[in-house]
Amino acid sequence: MPVFVDTGNLEEIERFYRMGIIRGVTTNPTILLKDGVRGGMRAIEARSKEIAGLIAPLPLSVELTTNDREQMIDQARMFADWANNIVVKVTIHGPDGELENLAVVHELETEYDVRVNVTAMMSAQQCFLAALSGASYVSIFGGRVNNMGYNVITEITKLRKVLDQFGLNAQIIVGSTREVLNVIEWLDAGAHIVTVTPNLLEGMLVHPYSKETVRMFLRDAAKAEEVLFSELEKVRL
Ligand code: E4P
Repeated sequence: MPVFVDTGNLEEIERFYRMGIIRGVTTNPTILLKDGVRGGMRAIEARSKEIAGLIAPLPLSVELTTNDREQMIDQARMFADWANNIVVKVTIHGPDGELENLAVVHELETEYDVRVNVTAMMSAQQCFLAALSGASYVSIFGGRVNNMGYNVITEITKLRKVLDQFGLNAQIIVGSTREVLNVIEWLDAGAHIVTVTPNLLEGMLVHPYSKETVRMFLRDAAKAEEVLFSELEKVRL
C-alpha cells in the first residue's frame, strides 16, 4: 500500500480517494491546526471520525496530544474506539528525550490491541527500536532528515534490510515530503509507504507536456469532426 495522503483536509482526501490512488491518511496536530481544526479534543474527534468514515477500511493515523504516560494510554484507547481504522501516532520519545513512549507503544499493541504508528523519527536506528517494540508502522521524516544534511535514502535502505532480516512486521512510512521526486525515490529505497502532501500528489500527476499533448488531441478531434460534418453536407446536397 504505497501512497498515503498527509493532510487533515477532507475535500483533498475525498478528491484523491475518489481517484483510487491513496491507501491511507496521516495527520498530526500541526496538520490538523493548519487544516482548520479548532476546539480541542471534540474538534479532533469530529474531524477524525469524518475522515475515518470516508476512507474505511483504509487506515487513518491520529497523533496523541499528551506525553503523560497514563493519559497517553487513555487517549490512545479513546482514539481507537472512535473507529476501527484509526491508528494511533505516538512520538518516539518525549520533548526532552523521555523514554516512556516505547513502553506505551508496546502496551498498546500487545495488551490493548491498538495499532500504533511511531512518529517523529529521524534515523533507521530509532525506527528499528520502534519496530522491535511492536509498532505496526514506523514513520521517518524524510524531508527533515535531508534538511539536516544527510540523505534519508541511506536510512530507508538500511532500515528495510534489518526489518526483513529479523522478520519484523512494521511498515515503514516515509513522511515530510518536500519534492515530487521523493515519492518514487523513497519507495525504490525500500519504504513500504510514502505519505504525500496534496500539492505534491497533484504535482506527480500533472505534466506540462501531457497538457500540451491532450490539447493537441482535442484540437485535432475537433478538426476531424468539422471535416466529417462538411463531408456529410456534401453527400446531402
Ligand atoms: C507524517 O506522518 C508526518 O507527520 C509529516 O509528514 C511531517 O511533515 P513535516 O516535516 O512537513 O512537518
